[in-house]
Amino acid sequence: MFSRSVARVWAAPSSRFFSASAAHRTKVAVLGAGGGIGQPLSLLLKSDPLVTSLSLYDIRGAPGVAADVSHVDTGSEVNGYAADQLDQALEGVKVVVIPAGVPRKPGMTRDDLFNTNASIVRDLASAVARVAPDAHILVISNPVNSTVPIVAGTLEKAGVFNPRHVFGVTTLDVVRAARFLAAVAGASPNDTAVTVVGGHSGPTIVPLLSQSSHGKGITGEAYDKLVHRIQFGGDEVVKAKDGAGSATLSMAYAGAKFTNALLRGLNGEKGVITPTFVKSPLFEDQGIDFFSSNVELGLDGVKKIHPIGQLSAAEEGLLAACLPELKKNIEKGKAFVA
Ligand SMILES: NC(=O)c1ccc[n+]([C@@H]2O[C@H](COP(=O)([O-])OP(=O)(O)OC[C@H]3O[C@@H](n4cnc5c(N)ncnc54)[C@H](O)[C@@H]3O)[C@@H](O)[C@H]2O)c1
Repeated sequence: MFSRSVARVWAAPSSRFFSASAAHRTKVAVLGAGGGIGQPLSLLLKSDPLVTSLSLYDIRGAPGVAADVSHVDTGSEVNGYAADQLDQALEGVKVVVIPAGVPRKPGMTRDDLFNTNASIVRDLASAVARVAPDAHILVISNPVNSTVPIVAGTLEKAGVFNPRHVFGVTTLDVVRAARFLAAVAGASPNDTAVTVVGGHSGPTIVPLLSQSSHGKGITGEAYDKLVHRIQFGGDEVVKAKDGAGSATLSMAYAGAKFTNALLRGLNGEKGVITPTFVKSPLFEDQGIDFFSSNVELGLDGVKKIHPIGQLSAAEEGLLAACLPELKKNIEKGKAFVA
């Protein structure tokens, strides 16, 4: 029903990477702007015509990144903030993107990052609650399945949680799925958009290939290999970087792409639909109240959460494996802020 709109959003040729059909412009903050993701993400956001002002914050190096990025000849202004300037960085901000935290090393799962990243994300969310309580928060820091409930719980405690404003960025899974399916199908990634639902870690990543015209014919060993690559594509990067971190450049691309989709929705563009991990009613009856599915983005963030639609038998199996793991991850995040 909505696959055409999805294709329109995700199949946009690169010249349309940033679309700016509407007039409003927005102040965006990047928390963790000095990092492997934060730096290229800041550069890409500087190129987005829907961004009017960029606030770059990190405990290390953000003023330097800001000085560098500010020379790019686009209209937005850029300011960098040092470790003790978090509140100033958040003043008047409408969108906050969070890639702060440590990345994986070979052999680590995303959950292994919990101990370090949980408190980083909680403290940043507390500051947003205090200074910019109406901001839309886009969480990149892993483990996303837990850090999003941590952000929601922190805002809830502060009495400012708006479920329409908190997003886990799962866009890299969507980007990888389109790219990897294109390679298998011998097609262009522009024509191989895939809806990816569930969460953002290994078995919780559920690609719905049966809903894609190129994906539905793939079966047997080719199907199993493709699903595994979509679920564990991040490991390819962690292994190749050999201790130097995880995906940063493709993640910056995905983060900028999702931010642009949100900004287009906030600006009133209709039919902006993409998967994202949000507070969701879809599996609430099973105790899973955060879930990624296709979400329409509108003037106030989440406009409509779409159901996951019809699944193949194989996808039913993937979903069955996803749900208990996702539930554990969400509960771990909630317990941290309880
Ligand atoms: N959602 C996804 O698909 C996805 C993909 C890749 C990586 N990630 C995650 O993104 C996070 C960042 O990855 P990276 O490769 O950029 O790591 P990085 O170590 O290169 O950068 C992280 C940055 O965060 C900063 N930081 C740490 N604590 C901070 C705080 N309290 N306030 C502000 N900044 C702080 C660090 O100084 C550093 O500059 C990791 O948790 C990683 O697992 C998510």
